[in-house]
Amino acid sequence: MKLNIALLAGDGIGPEVIEQAVKVSDAIAQKFGHEITWKPALTGAAAIDAVGEPYPDSTHEVCKNADAVLFGAIGHPKYDNDPSAPVRPEQGLLKMRKALGLFANVRPTFTFPSLLDKSPLKRERIEGTDLVFLRELTGGIYFGEKGRKDNGDTAFDNCVYTRAEVQRLAKKGFELAMTRSKKLCCVDKANVLETSRLWRETVQAMEKDYPEVEVSYEFVDAVAMRLVQWPNSYDVLITENLFGDILTDEASVISGSMGLMPSASMGAEVSLFEPIHGSYPQATGLNIANPMATVLSAAMMFENFGLTEEGKTMRDAVNKALEAGVVTEDLADGGKAYGTKEVGDWLAANI
Ligand code: IPM
Ligand code: MN
Repeated sequence: MKLNIALLAGDGIGPEVIEQAVKVSDAIAQKFGHEITWKPALTGAAAIDAVGEPYPDSTHEVCKNADAVLFGAIGHPKYDNDPSAPVRPEQGLLKMRKALGLFANVRPTFTFPSLLDKSPLKRERIEGTDLVFLRELTGGIYFGEKGRKDNGDTAFDNCVYTRAEVQRLAKKGFELAMTRSKKLCCVDKANVLETSRLWRETVQAMEKDYPEVEVSYEFVDAVAMRLVQWPNSYDVLITENLFGDILTDEASVISGSMGLMPSASMGAEVSLFEPIHGSYPQATGLNIANPMATVLSAAMMFENFGLTEEGKTMRDAVNKALEAGVVTEDLADGGKAYGTKEVGDWLAANI
């Protein structure tokens, strides 16, 4: 297969982890006879520094014309404590999600047998956890009207959803549930919010099209609690943008390292793959960041092209590295810590 992949390395450790994912993907391409053309483009603080905006048109062109986007991380501390900065890296992320129509954010949480004791939760609680959040990514409070009134003393952020937006996300949820254990949980706050009542009513109306899927409806506060009590009781969860933002960070610690969890953002046309961690600015250039989440994001990318064997080969290499202790310092536990690059080299050599 010939693949054109837009490469948005971004800020902080982004370029370092992306470099490893490219290395491992190239090894896959070589083994399975694919041809990958990487198309680098600017994003985040790096793009603000170079051209004054975090998601320039030139980058959008590259993404739009690619078969998929592989994304590193964005964010820079110089913007974090400056609420008045005229442009911020995160705006680029939101603009990109909207412009590429990336409405479904897929965030899996699973455990690695060799890391069960690294989790802050007890082994018996997390064993067997394998759940997926489908977070709506281009609507809700993130994109509603926002502003100030009363001379700046009152602020508002509107949360808006249309039935069509809920339907297309829920459809992905039902379809995903059909390929897994046929359990779907709709997470909302329908006891309080009108948008949540629209979500619930829309999902309920779709149940008849998927008679095999067992659907449950739970309030977001209860899910936040059950997620740390019995994470292995969940399978596919669908939810709106802000709830999904919060719950997926919570879920990410279950596996034991944020440096391990991949994600995908699916649109009608192009899809984007990225690690769930941020730009980890303190580690920039130190060769200590864990590249595995980015490598696993590339595995999701292959799988999304229908290249399941390729994806599995990458996942197997990561599992093998974890078992062999070829890990960066976040997982080294006082033992030998390998560098970002060395982990990438090891993974590529084990494809
Ligand atoms: C995420 C991030 C972003 C979000 C930020 C950086 C805008 O937290 O991808 O989860 O809130 O969506
Ligand atoms: Mn987040």
